Amino acid sequence: MRREHIAVLTSGGDAPGMNAAIRAVVRTAIYRNLRVSGVFHGFQGLIDGAVEELGPRSVANIIQRGGTILQTARCEPFYRPEGRALAASTLARCGIDGLVVIGGDGSFRGATLLHEEHGVPVLGIPGTIDNDIYGTDVSIGFNTAINVALEVVDRLSDTAAGSNPPLNVALGVRPRLRAPAASHNRLFLVEVMGRESGNIALYVGVAGGAEAILIPEQSLGADEVTNLVIRAKERGKSSSIVVVAEGAYEGGALALQEAIRRRCGYEVRSSILGHMQRGGSPSTRDRVLASRLGYEAVRGLLEGRSGAMVGVDKRKAVFVPLTEVRAKNKEIDWQLVEVAQVLAI
Ligand code: F6P
Repeated sequence: MRREHIAVLTSGGDAPGMNAAIRAVVRTAIYRNLRVSGVFHGFQGLIDGAVEELGPRSVANIIQRGGTILQTARCEPFYRPEGRALAASTLARCGIDGLVVIGGDGSFRGATLLHEEHGVPVLGIPGTIDNDIYGTDVSIGFNTAINVALEVVDRLSDTAAGSNPPLNVALGVRPRLRAPAASHNRLFLVEVMGRESGNIALYVGVAGGAEAILIPEQSLGADEVTNLVIRAKERGKSSSIVVVAEGAYEGGALALQEAIRRRCGYEVRSSILGHMQRGGSPSTRDRVLASRLGYEAVRGLLEGRSGAMVGVDKRKAVFVPLTEVRAKNKEIDWQLVEVAQVLAI
């Protein structure tokens, strides 16, 4: 398919690895003799005409950086027909005949409308730490976000455990098989991102050895969590970590903390990780994923693909129609939910 000039934008919540995807789009396009432009501030930049041509050096030294050099925004005017008409006219004026949209579900809604109403050739790249996009095994940013959150959970586990058994070894005493009961019964709640999706909580909870994991797809009430923690203590556990997805409990971890304290009097501490999970240098996996998807998006546009998302299915790039991506829900990994429950005994 003859294409001359494509553009790339990032939209919605930023995710670590978006810069690596921008770099891949820009360099692949130039390698394939296309002109390539960056659109600033997501769809708002299309409405405002904030478009700038990029070269291979424009994206030098960004693969390791979090955030997005193109900046991102949620754009209300774009969800009105007049906004999209303005966006389409900017593309036409700049002679842009292909658009790559890096973002999550809301961004793909905008991309789909632009494609359907104005015939703009559009391909989406999944970029969201929530990893809740149908049609791809994983989205850009998820791996970094879970690593950031896991580091915090590991640190809390250290302090939750209080004293560590290796002291016996240092003294030349045979280590006891069971650690001595700690004097406190501490419960740590860790709130991770995921207003509508429990993927981050699930992965971090399994990898961090959580006592319980609360996800929006299957939330637990305060009574259930309290019972789990009491039973854990009865089984000899001296401290517990519970991972709570942002959207899994009304009022979040702080409300849950208070509800548990009222029920059993345990000392409960909460850590709310918030937006720190979205920042920082992307992991190796996210950089590689973003590079692959950026490359494939340009290849897809050159093959005449449009109105689709490029994702990965068992390490292979796949193109899935945006209508399908938007219509279907990515199921949480229920097997992993069961694994988490079994391993918490
Ligand atoms: O990036 C996705 C996400 O992190 C969700 O998990 C969360 O609910 C939302 O973004 C919060 O984003 P903001 O507060 O920036 O709108």
